[in-house]
Parts: sequence; C-alpha cells; structure tokens
Amino acid sequence: MCGISGIAGFKNIAVPLLDSIRHLEYRGYDACGIAILGLHGIEVRKNIGSVDEVNERERLSEPDGKLGIAHTRWATHGGVTKENTHPHLSCKGDFALVHNGIISNYRELKKELIKEGHKFYSETDTEVIVHLVEKYFAPSKDTEKAFIKAIKRLEGTYAVAMITIYEKDKIFCAKKESPLVIGLGGDTNYIGSDFNAFIDYTKNAVVLDDDEYAVVSKDRYFIKNTTNGETVRKKITEIHWDSDMAKKGGYPHYMLKEIYEQPQCIINASQVDRQHIKKISDMIMESKKTYLIGVGTTYYVSLMGEYQFSSVAGIFTPAISSDEFKNLAHIDKDTLVIAISQSGETYDTLNALKYAKNKGAKTAAIVNVMGSSIARLVDLTILQGSGPEICVISTKAALSQMIILLMIALEIAVRNKRLASKNKIEIERHISNLPEIIQKVLNEKSGFIHTIAQKYSHINNWLYLGRGKYYPIALESSLKMKEVAYVHAEGMPAGFLKHGTIALIDENLYSIIFMPPKSDEDLYRLSSGSAEEIKARKGFIIGFHFGDKKESEKLFNEEIALPTVPDVIAPFLELVVAQLFAYFTAVALKRNIDKPRSLAKSVTVA
Ligand code: G6P
Repeated sequence: MCGISGIAGFKNIAVPLLDSIRHLEYRGYDACGIAILGLHGIEVRKNIGSVDEVNERERLSEPDGKLGIAHTRWATHGGVTKENTHPHLSCKGDFALVHNGIISNYRELKKELIKEGHKFYSETDTEVIVHLVEKYFAPSKDTEKAFIKAIKRLEGTYAVAMITIYEKDKIFCAKKESPLVIGLGGDTNYIGSDFNAFIDYTKNAVVLDDDEYAVVSKDRYFIKNTTNGETVRKKITEIHWDSDMAKKGGYPHYMLKEIYEQPQCIINASQVDRQHIKKISDMIMESKKTYLIGVGTTYYVSLMGEYQFSSVAGIFTPAISSDEFKNLAHIDKDTLVIAISQSGETYDTLNALKYAKNKGAKTAAIVNVMGSSIARLVDLTILQGSGPEICVISTKAALSQMIILLMIALEIAVRNKRLASKNKIEIERHISNLPEIIQKVLNEKSGFIHTIAQKYSHINNWLYLGRGKYYPIALESSLKMKEVAYVHAEGMPAGFLKHGTIALIDENLYSIIFMPPKSDEDLYRLSSGSAEEIKARKGFIIGFHFGDKKESEKLFNEEIALPTVPDVIAPFLELVVAQLFAYFTAVALKRNIDKPRSLAKSVTVA
C-alpha cells in the first residue's frame, strides 16, 4: 500500500501537493517524494523518512510549477532507499511516474527494456512502467497512446499517475485493483489514492473503477475504458467526511477498515515474489527441522502454519511462542527458524531469532515492515505487502501471513509428491477466489454479525472451539475478543473439551464452535459431536458454519451460516467472521478499539 496524489492547477501547487502527502502518510511512511513540472522540465525531490523529515531535507514546497504528482511509499519491491523512492523518471527525464500496487510481470518487462537500452536506477517494479511509456512514446510522440500501451502490458495491481514535459497541463492516471479518485476543484483538479489527498480543497470527487484511465487538467478531465478506449461517464460523488474520518476511509475505526482491506491483502499476499516462496521451500527441505515462531497473533499464525505444513505438505514444523523458544527448541546448524511478525520489531521474536542464529541455525521471516529489525536480521525475508496496519489488533496482516504459509506448504507438497501440480493449480484457484468470497460475506453478513454481537455483548465468558485447522482459528479469534473487547474468551480444541473443561458447561456458559464444511466429513462429524456435548449440558452454543441453516437448527442456539466453500479456504472465512464479531462486541461495550488498554502495536521489551 502506498499513497499517490497529483494536482493540476492555475498557480503554484507545491504547497498543496506537500499537504496532500501529509494526509496520505498513513498509507506508507518509509519514504516520499514529489515531481513538479517547471519551466526547465520535471523536478523530482524525494528521500526516505516521514513527510516532515523529507521536507526538512529536500524542501518539497520549493519548486515552482502548476502540475505535479507525489507519493508516500510503503516498500514492497526494493529496500527503503532514495533510489527506490517514487516518483521515478524515464531515461531522459521526460516522464515522471508514481505507482501503488504490485506489477507481477516486472522482471520480464525489465529484462526486455534493459535489452533495448533503458537504464534503471531503482530495484522497484514501478520503474518499468515509466520506461515502457518512454519506449512507446518514441515512435508515436503521442503521450496518451504510449501511456495506454504501457498500461496494457502490466500484470498485477496498480494505481498510476504520470506527468510529462510533452503535455504541460495533464496528469495521466490509470487503475486496476488499487484505489484512485479524482477531486474536482473548479479551477484546480486533483487525483489521489483516496479522498484524503484533496479533502481540504474540494468535496467533489469521481471514483475510478478497474481498467479505467483518466487524463486530468486544471479545468477538464475525461475517463476512458483502458481495454476498448470508450469514454466512461461517471457521477460526481460529494464527500461528507471530516479529515479524521477520511483518513479511515469513512470507517469509524482502523480495525474495521483493515478487516475490509483483507480481500486486497490476500491478492497482495498471493502475489509475493515466487522466487522467495521457492527459496524458503528449499530452505525447509534442506533443514532437518523447522520451527515456526511468533507471539500473540503471530504465534497463532505459526500454529496455523504448523497445521498447514502437516496436512498439506506432510512435514512437521512445530510452532513455538517466541517467548518460550529458548526453553523448548533444540537448535543446530541443520535447523531452520521461520519467524512471523507484522511489525518486524517484536523483542521476543527478535531475541529468539538471535539465539537461533548464534547456535548456527538458518533463519527466515514473513514480515509486513520492510527494513525492520527482523527483516534485516534473517537470511531470507518474505514481505507480505499488507500495507500499514494502524489498529493495534492485527487482522489483515495475520490473514495474509496465513495465506503465504499455505502457499509455501503447497510448494513443498508438490516437491514431496503429495500433491500433483494440477491439484496445486486447483487450490491456488480457490485461493484466488477467496477475496471475492470474503467481500461478499463482508457485504452481506456484517449487519447480521453486528446484531448477534450486540445481543451477546453482556456475556463475560466464552469458549471458542475448533478441531484441526479450526483450532488455531479458534485461538486467534478468542485473542481478538480478549484484546479488543476485554472479554474473556478461551480457545481450545473441541475434542479437548470433554477432558475437563466440560465441567464448566451449564446454561450460563456461552460457546462458539468453528465448524468445517460438510465435505470435510470426519472433522464435521467430530465437531458436530462436540456441539452435541455442549447442548446436552444445556450450554449455549453459536455455530459458525457452512451451508444450510435448517439442517443446523438442532445443533446450535444461534448461528452464522456462510456460503459453502472448498475446505482449503474455509477456515479463513470463519476468521473474518470472528474478527467482525469481536469488533462489534467491542463497539457495543464502547471500548477503545484501535488502541485497547495496555496493548502496544509492537512490544519491544522482554
Ligand atoms: C504484541 C501485540 C499483538 C501482536 C504481537 C506480535 O503483543 O499486542 O497484537 O500480535 O505483538 O506482533 P508482531 O508485530 O511481531 O506480529
């Protein structure tokens, strides 16, 4: 996730352009930069650090010009360096471009362009776009045509904005799966990743859809379909937000916004560098044992990884909570330790990695923050590309990590001959359908989940039960409830219930059971058995389950019925429901949602 903005005005735009990236800083705070078209061509000023730090060093509001674009970077391809900071320039400096998203075919494109003589200055995927435009401009001298030709070569996700010395009053922009809006200010027009970019200047906006591009001047704009070039007419939306609401994209809390960002995060996670998935699979296969480590949510993500590696890839990779790692793990040079961490700064995890490294182990990590301590320490880092997670409670980062672990498990399963390549493709297809399914559940079920959560918000104790892969989901879901609603929720394997905890059950104890789809026959039968055990003792049970409402009437007192989905993606869907359930419970209890008491986003103490 990055922030992009642009202004086409009738007077100097450097100051409002700087303001616009201040408002977009929450989308990325590794680095930022601006490109302004002045009398002597395009001037780029950029550097690493926060907007204020970069402004102090580079004086971003200084350049004169009436047309410009800007960017706040959340690094995905290439380190946090000045060279990798946007805007990027073409070889001759005639075109400047900013981008948000991931270009998945950038390696092939870069190879092709280098062969043709283009010189690259950064490690980013973005830089290929501006060179592509330059390449197609050379024969035609038509910027719009060259821009569209370049856009059509891109695979992956993008919101792009570009200026050029050849069109002194125009910003060219295009979108696919990354957000882009145009702000209409009368004599000045704007573009932005979201309304924050220009909310202080205008409340009138036009939202671009996928596969559309726009050419925006100070007093005009048009939008066309990228595929067939046809003009698209769009309605003007009036924004009714104040600045603070706008930062949250209209959501009342970052937690809800981040829950809703999960479809996009899954797309990003499934597009992580294939070479890295292969490399980490090599590392796992070459090691005698592999540990997965994390704390809090990331420990539960590790546990989910343990189940996935075991069931899909046929290997045992124990998950250990980082704080207990030294007390439990046996490390030698044939050991691999894979750390999971959103922040990349958590002391317990960092410490466990250092301990393992000192004993000669190989290390790898799945992290969300490039350049973080953990990312710098390990032999191999996989960047999950979830964008900044502002709410202290982890939602989108955790789900993305689970998806990446599943992708690694699939890669190993093929190598272990437990899975034919065609079946792997089939499973990957299911994963690629997940964003749409989650979106549908968010759209259609969140009202109902809200009602249920409100109805039971007075309950002080919950049991969260699941078997197999639904056990780590139950644990992670119960943690959400504890963290955000301050309500006690105990996660446990549903089969473990009868070995003691069942003594607690009477009409005052409330449980949630995470049911698998019916296609997972054995697990379904066993999980139903656990639900029966609770009902037999008059316990109250809410079932998160797939399929028909009627059939489950006998089993649950209350239910959240989800569309039937393939087994491999089913647990993720229930996790999203549980996140919403915890969120709405916390709303009903008037908790401090984005900053719960006693919690910190990254815990850097022992
Ligand atoms: C803290 C947070 C938890 C988080 C854990 C791991 O304890 O309060 O919400 O899950 O750290 O953080 P990490 O950044 O390493 O994923």
